[in-house]
This record gives sequence, structure tokens and C-alpha cells, in this order.
Amino acid sequence: WGLKPWGGVFHEATDRRVERFTESVSFDRRLYKHDIEGSLAHAKMLVKAGLLSTAECQQIEQTLNSIRQEIEQDQFEYSHALEDIHMHIEHALVERLGDVGRKLHTARSRNDQVSTDLRLWVRDSIDQLDAALEILQKAFVSRAEADADVILPGYTHLRRAQPVLAAHYWLAYCEKLDRDRGRLADCRRRANVSPLGAAACAGTSLPIDRDETARLLGFEGVAANSLDVSSDRDFAVEFVFDLVMIAEHLSGWAEDWIIWSTVEFDFIKLPEAFCTGSSIMPQKINPDVLELIRGKTARVVGDLQALLVLVKGLPLAYNRDLQEDKPRVFDAFDTVLSCVELAAPIVADTKLKRESIEARLEQGFLDATTMMEHMISQGVPQRSAHGLVGQLVRLALDRGVTLADLSVEDFQSVDQRLDKSVYEVLGAKQAVSAFVSYGSTSPKQVATQLAAWKTRLEIS
Ligand code: ARG
Repeated sequence: WGLKPWGGVFHEATDRRVERFTESVSFDRRLYKHDIEGSLAHAKMLVKAGLLSTAECQQIEQTLNSIRQEIEQDQFEYSHALEDIHMHIEHALVERLGDVGRKLHTARSRNDQVSTDLRLWVRDSIDQLDAALEILQKAFVSRAEADADVILPGYTHLRRAQPVLAAHYWLAYCEKLDRDRGRLADCRRRANVSPLGAAACAGTSLPIDRDETARLLGFEGVAANSLDVSSDRDFAVEFVFDLVMIAEHLSGWAEDWIIWSTVEFDFIKLPEAFCTGSSIMPQKINPDVLELIRGKTARVVGDLQALLVLVKGLPLAYNRDLQEDKPRVFDAFDTVLSCVELAAPIVADTKLKRESIEARLEQGFLDATTMMEHMISQGVPQRSAHGLVGQLVRLALDRGVTLADLSVEDFQSVDQRLDKSVYEVLGAKQAVSAFVSYGSTSPKQVATQLAAWKTRLEIS
């Protein structure tokens, strides 16, 4: 058999530099569990197909299980000469079982094997990430209750725009995370198709049962074209895109909270356990975790970029280039999972600085648009009302006061139709209460959304 299962045709031994250059076991060893899972299913199917006896299958099963244990207990030896995790495990099997071990790779290639392993791994990783995203959503939802009475400035262009409930902010992040979870679920469906039995690229002349391995591995279907599936890494690219979107969402949130925790904004106090200090400036409490969540987005985007370039222009079917997919997929997953897992306690433990927020809430004319809408509901055309409120804002700016500080005479000086009823919508609190539209920041709408989230996330 020799060390290399493909050695038969070769006259020359592999150059050491080639072994070092082509190996992937240094990173694909983390697929060991899925590789063994795939092999166990494959062996069982071979029995049904009459290509392996029940006794042989049992030996293979026992040996694969003990190999798994050795790997888990760090007692397994790796060598660059054996390229990848698939060859390592098979080599160990043959070493222990001889000819019985030599039968496992019947009607199988590493091409369908690696695709199977990676799909199983992506499936598990999606489930793990989905659970972490749910925990993060729950952290936002629990905040929404605790902060129910707080109004924050809503921003556009990072300029004060309109008043919004703090809960509306928290549920906004929940929505983004929910789309992320939806994308992962979609990706899971496309990843969850069995390539096993596609063999190298054309299938096999042996009487295998692909439905059986698919069933044993929990795949929802069997890939219909062996050429396609042995080259297909769409699911990996899609998974990493989904990871990028999560990173982008977390990055935007991190940016918000970095700004909000500055002396200048002073809206929140971040938990000190999730901040770090300066080696020279004694007073510093820096938001490094948030900065790194923002910063690590760059490498995840890089991972996606690498994958897209990797698969571009590859001829059918399998090409060794595809081995380069795994470091990027693993890196993107590890990075994003750690960001999501760190975000949850930060969200849960950050305190709103209510007094500081309230002290400046009437700055920036958050109620101007609501005042305009008040005039519209009294029959003033929108464009006219916009211009008139603009004039009133200018008047208030010149005097250094708020709209609510202006007198009825002031209002009537720009338009006779204005009366004291405008005071009902002025001030951030009244302005928030004036909202009515679906999905708006109106207290009623936000309460409805919050209740829906609690039901959905099964929070009592
Ligand atoms: N290690 C390879 C990968 O990750 C799988 C092996 C396929 N090798 C081959 N010569 N067909 O893609």
C-alpha cells in the first residue's frame, strides 16, 4: 500500500517540498469528526450494496471510533506525507485492519469525500452560529423591556433626525440579525445535499445506493449531477457571504456604541469587563472589543473575496485549488462566531445613561418633522409646512431656544393658521407619542413588535 494510496503509478518519491506545499492536514484536521461520520455511513451503505460484509463493516466502525477517540485525546499522529485528514484516517484504518480497511474507499473519491465533510461541517456550524445569534437577539429584547421608557435621538447622516424609543433601536438590531438567521437557514438547505457517490467526477460503475448514505447523514437530498457537485463550492461561498453580513451588522452596531460611549455623546456606559486600558494614559477605558468587532469585519470580507476569486474560472470538475477554501471558511466562521458571542454580554451589561441622554434630548429639533406633520393634518400642503417649520427652526436657532419655547405669536408670525395645538406634538416625548404608522417608533407599535419578538424567541 505504501504511505501514499495513489503511489502505484509513480517511479519517483514525492519531493519533501511538495509534501509541505500540498498538505492540508494542518487545517482540515478539524473535519475529522465529519470525515468519520461520512465514512461510517458510506461503509453501512457498502454492506447493503453487497460490497462489504457486515463483519467487515463492524470492524471498520470500531476502528474508526477508536481513531476518533485518539484524535480527540491528542494521541493521533499527523504527517505531511499523508496530505489531508481523509488520507490520515484511511491510512490509520488500513494500518490496523489491512485488507478490510482497504475496502472503505470503494466507490468513493476524496473529491466527494471532502465535499461531504465540508457540507456536514457547514451544517453544524450554521446550527452553532444560529444558536449564538438567538442569544444575541434575546439580549437586545431583554434590554427593550428594561429601557422601555427611554427616548434616544434617531440619526440620519449622524445628525439628529427624529426621536425614537430605545426599544426601537434594540429591535432594529434584532431585525437585522433575523435576516442573518434566515440567510443561514437558506444556505443550510443548499449545503444539505449529498455529494457522496459522485466519486471523482463521473460517479461509479459499482451498485451503490446514494439515497442510503444521504439518509444516514441527514442530508435532505442527493446531488443530481456528479460533475457539478464535485466542483460545487457555492454553499461555502454563500456561507461566508452570510458571515460577512453578520459581521457588517455587528460592525455598524459596534460603531454606534463606540460613538455613544464617548464623552461627547455620553449615552451609554460599556461594561468595564469588556473594555481595556492604555499603557500610557491612565484615565483611558477603551472600547477595544467593539473596535475589534468592527475591525474583524475586514478579514471576513477578505475571506469572501478570496473564495470568490478562488472559484472563478475553474474548469469542471474538481481542482486542487478548492483545497484553499477551507482556511477561509474556517477563519470567517471562527471570527464571526467569536464576535457574536462577545456581543451578547456587551449588549446585556451596557447601561443607558438616562440623565445625560435626557439633558440634551431637546437639542437638535427632533420634533420639527412631527410639527410639520401636525400642520399637514390641519390642511397645510407638505411643501409649505416644510418651509414654514424651517423658518421657525431658524428663528429658534437664532434665539438659542427649542420649538416648544416659541410663543403662539411667534408661530403665527410665520403662518396665521398655527395655533396652540402645536404644543401637543412638540418636545421629544410628545413627538414620539404622535407616531402612528406600522413599524414606526410609536409606543404602541414598539410594544406590539416587542410582544411579537418575545413570542418568537420564546421569552416569557
Ligand atoms: N485535500 C483536498 C481538498 O481539500 C481533497 C483531496 C483531493 N485531492 C485530489 N487529489 N483529488 O480539497
